[in-house]
Amino acid sequence: MSSQTFQALVVSESEDKQYIREIKTKTLAELPEDEVLVRVRYSSLNYKDVLSAIGNKGVTKRYPHTPGIDAAGVVAESQSPDFQPGDEVIVTSYDLGMNTPGGFGEFIRVPAAWVVKRPEGLSLRESMIYGTAGFTAALSVLRLMAGGVQADRGKILVSGATGGVGSVAVSILAQEGYQVTAVSGRKETWEYLQELGAREMISTEEATDTSGRPLLSDRWAGSIDTVGGPLLATTIRSVSYGGVVTCCGNVASPDLPLTVYPFILRGVTLIGIDSQNCPMPTRVQVWQKLAQKWKVPHLERITTETDLDGLNEQIDLILKRQHRGRTIIKLPQ
Ligand SMILES: NC(=O)c1ccc[n+]([C@@H]2O[C@H](COP(=O)([O-])OP(=O)(O)OC[C@H]3O[C@@H](n4cnc5c(N)ncnc54)[C@H](OP(=O)(O)O)[C@@H]3O)[C@@H](O)[C@H]2O)c1
Repeated sequence: MSSQTFQALVVSESEDKQYIREIKTKTLAELPEDEVLVRVRYSSLNYKDVLSAIGNKGVTKRYPHTPGIDAAGVVAESQSPDFQPGDEVIVTSYDLGMNTPGGFGEFIRVPAAWVVKRPEGLSLRESMIYGTAGFTAALSVLRLMAGGVQADRGKILVSGATGGVGSVAVSILAQEGYQVTAVSGRKETWEYLQELGAREMISTEEATDTSGRPLLSDRWAGSIDTVGGPLLATTIRSVSYGGVVTCCGNVASPDLPLTVYPFILRGVTLIGIDSQNCPMPTRVQVWQKLAQKWKVPHLERITTETDLDGLNEQIDLILKRQHRGRTIIKLPQ
């Protein structure tokens, strides 16, 4: 079986540090020696995959490399008693797609500890509509609720709302009865955000204060932030007493220009969200929520499906800030 070939998107580094994306034929022998071989049916596109595809060494150190931090498929071989050939499974995060060949190939081979059995109520395709982005959105909502921000407390701001994390966060919060204000830099997306359940839309400029005042009038009961930088700093300064802000991303900036005043005068809580090393019990709980109580009714509305050939175009759309919702990749069967 080790000589069996399969197709994968491979990113190569040229001598002049250009990163070339091509579909290549690989063999199973090129995959790491690990416990579970999975035939990938679907993968999905996340911001981190884009970073890996353009040569960001903070994500991927060695090239040639196959990105894809998400994969859903069927176990082909297993050395672990926990998984049998034929089991339908989901593998997201850990090192998948970073320095381990990822879901943009027809096969992955990974440690059993990275593998989750597909939960009842969610197809493999649906699990990749969520993917790491949807998982992170759900984890963020879970933390916001655990922090005591109930739906009747006031408005919740979601930044990067047209993106993968943002779209799913808006949808889950709306289902749970929260009043969502969605931030997007693109007015043409506002109708889409309203369809997901946002009650109000504001521009990035409107959500970003430039006065430099350490505290602003309170506007939000809480927030799910996916962009970081001045927008996140503004949000923290605008959250009402006892509010909770979750922070998972840095598409705008990794900087956080702030004072301690929102924390010591308004008791604001800032919660960091990490999906990559999320412990397995929480991981399973979040997937179960996504499969049942928080299953988004309009999943197809946020989904673009492509194949390995169409992936390059979708990566470019994210780079040009023209992407929306979630893109899934159907691998050859
Ligand atoms: N911590 C974790 O475990 C974890 C997991 C998943 C993702 N993330 C991170 O979360 C972030 C979002 O991921 P994603 O998959 O949702 O990405 P995405 O699909 O590319 O969406 C990001 C959204 O942010 C907005 N945006 C882009 N550039 C911006 C800028 N300069 N200023 C303000 N808004 C900007 C865009 O919306 P508009 O153009 O409509 O404004 C875009 O739709 C990324 O940084 C990603 O790495 C972290």
